[in-house]
Amino acid sequence: MSIQSWIDRWDAQQEVNLPDREERFTALIDAVAEGVGRPDPLVLDLGCGPGSLSVRLLKQLPEAIVVAADADPLLLGLGRAAYGDTIRFVEVDLAVPGWSAQLGLDRQADAAVSTTALHWLSPAALAAMYAELAKTLRPGGLLLNGDHLGESAQTAPTLLRIGRAIIEREERRRAPAGHAEDWSGWWAAVKADQELADLVAERERKQTGGGHHGSPSGLLATHVDALTAAGFAEIGTLWQRGDNRLLCAVLA
Ligand SMILES: C[S@@+](CC[C@H](N)C(=O)[O-])C[C@H]1O[C@@H](n2cnc3c(N)ncnc32)[C@H](O)[C@@H]1O
Repeated sequence: MSIQSWIDRWDAQQEVNLPDREERFTALIDAVAEGVGRPDPLVLDLGCGPGSLSVRLLKQLPEAIVVAADADPLLLGLGRAAYGDTIRFVEVDLAVPGWSAQLGLDRQADAAVSTTALHWLSPAALAAMYAELAKTLRPGGLLLNGDHLGESAQTAPTLLRIGRAIIEREERRRAPAGHAEDWSGWWAAVKADQELADLVAERERKQTGGGHHGSPSGLLATHVDALTAAGFAEIGTLWQRGDNRLLCAVLA
């Protein structure tokens, strides 16, 4: 199977839990275009996977410089093979302090973007990552994070319950027979492709992805608190559907 076909299948399985993924990409990229104030921004894609957001951003903002960061060698390998001529992919673990120095930046970034990735970090690692990001962005720089970021079961249990029920009802209407391929189906298929055997072996050697259990930073408040502590001034939701939102934070 071609690299582009694997990325297309990646996009399809991501949409299983995220039917508004393309709409959220569009809102995020519009926010970058509107918010950075120059046609050639330096943009960091945090937890880029195979580059789905980066490539769409570059299509809308062809003068942008995009540095795409992820810890998974297989997803980075797909991204490099498909888009390596226009996007620089860098292997870093965002949970390990010092990640920003590995990006090889020659100036402060105008924006950091991310989709469906930062909820993977523990709250402590997320706070450290945002603090390091604040030193990597220019004053007034933007964080734009598209993710499922929900209400707290302690402070808003009813909103949480009804919000989840709305999404589940919508999902039953949208796909009553289920989906062709989900996240685990995609990974099982990709691991069986002999042409990707080297990347699969590298991923297994580094045990990437083995630490992903649930959504340790899936609460909106975890992000708002960590961004505030890191020195971001305005923090708010620019686009939302259920708990799927585009969170924006502006560095002071
Ligand atoms: C669900 S995927 C989303 C990928 C891409 N942003 C997209 O929307 O298609 C989550 C990504 O976060 C990356 N990730 C998770 N924890 C990470 C960490 N500590 N450092 C770097 N990347 C991480 C994973 O490797 C994976 O590529």
